[in-house]
Amino acid sequence: MRLFNDPDKGNCAACHLSQPTADKLPPLFTDTEYEALGVPRNRRLAANRDPNHFDMGLCGPLRTDFATQTQYCGMFLTPTLRNSAKRGVYFHNGVYHDLKQVVDFYNLREVQPGAIYPHDAGGKILKYDDLPARYHANIDVADAPFDRKAGDKRPLSDAEVQDIIAFLRTLDDGDKAAGY
Ligand code: HEC
Repeated sequence: MRLFNDPDKGNCAACHLSQPTADKLPPLFTDTEYEALGVPRNRRLAANRDPNHFDMGLCGPLRTDFATQTQYCGMFLTPTLRNSAKRGVYFHNGVYHDLKQVVDFYNLREVQPGAIYPHDAGGKILKYDDLPARYHANIDVADAPFDRKAGDKRPLSDAEVQDIIAFLRTLDDGDKAAGY
């Protein structure tokens, strides 16, 4: 939990709030806000066989009310992390299947993008490959751990990644099956 909360480590609690709510409910692990994290493209999705198809969240194409509000392109709701260890499919496009991949994404997206995104035939890293380039400025590079630069020290060691995963597992309901 310390690593989850620490702004110099995971900084997860900046968005996945870990404090009780104002009306004293247990923490919800979401700030109910929208962010563009630049999650990698899920090339296994049938819709993504079309290279011109992009699921851009708030600005569509499924949702239509913000179609002209391009500052929202790529933004998705911060989900609760309760029972996330039981889900087995992560982020809006389901690109990851275990929490190690998810925490590695946060840890490495900026400092080592070549470990997160595919490369083109010439070896160039296709950073933020699931959002058209004209909207890349919407992607959050202000909040830690995304404020680091390529080549900077990664915020979490492998052992610390495992510690955060262990903490996420404590957010599971132990007494009943999750009803997804
Ligand atoms: C800047 C805000 C922000 C920070 C910081 C942040 N998250 Fe998230 N998190 C999000 C958003 C937004 C999504 C959904 C993104 C999407 O689907 O494209 C998400 C999704 C997730 C998911 C997937 C949940 C699911 O059911 O699909 C997990 C797990 C997660 N975050 C864990 C973490 C951990 C662990 C950290 C710290 C290392 C962290 N997050 C830091 C905003 C944040």
